[in-house]
Amino acid sequence: MKILGIETTCDETGVSIVEVNDQNGSLIAILSNIIASQEDLHALYGGVYPELACRRHFDILIPLIDQALKEAQISFQEIDLISVAYGPGLIGALLMGLNCAKALSLAWSKPFIGVNHVQAHLYAALMGNAEPIFPSLGVVVSGGHTFLIKMESIHDYELIGQTVDDAIGEAFDKVAVMLGLPYPGGPQIEKLALKGNLSLYPFKAGVVKQNPWDFSFSGLKTNVLYRLKGKNTSKNSQTQLDSSQWPHIAASFQETALNDVVSKSMRAAHHFQCKAIYLGGGVTQNQRFRDLLKNSPIPVYWPLKGLSLDNAAMIAGLGYPIFLQKGKQSDPLDLEPLARIPLR
Ligand code: KG4
Ligand code: ZN
Repeated sequence: MKILGIETTCDETGVSIVEVNDQNGSLIAILSNIIASQEDLHALYGGVYPELACRRHFDILIPLIDQALKEAQISFQEIDLISVAYGPGLIGALLMGLNCAKALSLAWSKPFIGVNHVQAHLYAALMGNAEPIFPSLGVVVSGGHTFLIKMESIHDYELIGQTVDDAIGEAFDKVAVMLGLPYPGGPQIEKLALKGNLSLYPFKAGVVKQNPWDFSFSGLKTNVLYRLKGKNTSKNSQTQLDSSQWPHIAASFQETALNDVVSKSMRAAHHFQCKAIYLGGGVTQNQRFRDLLKNSPIPVYWPLKGLSLDNAAMIAGLGYPIFLQKGKQSDPLDLEPLARIPLR
């Protein structure tokens, strides 16, 4: 089965073609995986500017699909299924990918299927393994999401914990802005932290009383702000802390945020009797994060190479098991995009 994947949930336009086993959906090859980043467009604003994201998706989707077919060395007739992320994400951005998938489905007479972007992030870690392990803990850490999810199967998910304010990647991005670093801030913070002392500033991540598995990063972010600019200042205030301290701030912040995810994940895996941990999302690119989970007593699986950040290969890969589950039925053409898809 050759599947065309389309990803436009936020600020990356992704188009990919993957080949999977038609019996069990296991990955044979990623034939092409194009990610057109919009970093240049949004850098000026220190975050994603939704309207500009939509316009860029609109402009480049069809040329990228042509390119993906060319790189995969196949024609559109050989595509068996079109898989598209229908949420969660920015509604306008989602509309671009979803309408493109519907239009191609009609024009090419191919089935199409909508998949959940968050599930696809976890599928990026499941995809390369012949025998997925269940029950397992899914940990999604990205610019838009911080989720702990118990997975009984590819189709059976239960939300255990989530952020009550900022996503972890968003906290990295916002702290980076405070330090005058460009968007996206995660990789910049990681680089700066390499030169810093990770225990110099004793920051704390938030504790959510109602649910011990939930996350809160906005207090941590404010701690960093006050350390840099003084108590009760705002993000536009003048920085008071000497720049020689900034690597220590970056390292201490990073350590606190990552340790919060690591410790909650380990405790949740134990508590919910999970036999493996699958991780997904942009923050899994962070090497310190990977090091912190190196000695985990249960197996830990990271996304396949190149599939941490938003991409369409994970959307294509997840499309086939969903298509099988739906009895090889296409989704209806009135499928709507969803800004939020509740897991709980
Ligand atoms: O998965 P993704 O592409 O987007 C969402 O679905 O939200 O993740 C992007 C996020 C950004 O917040 C970015 O700063 C963060 O992942 N990120 C990192 C690293 N690389 C990307 N955070 C920490 N360390 C990194 N090396
Ligand atoms: Zn994502």
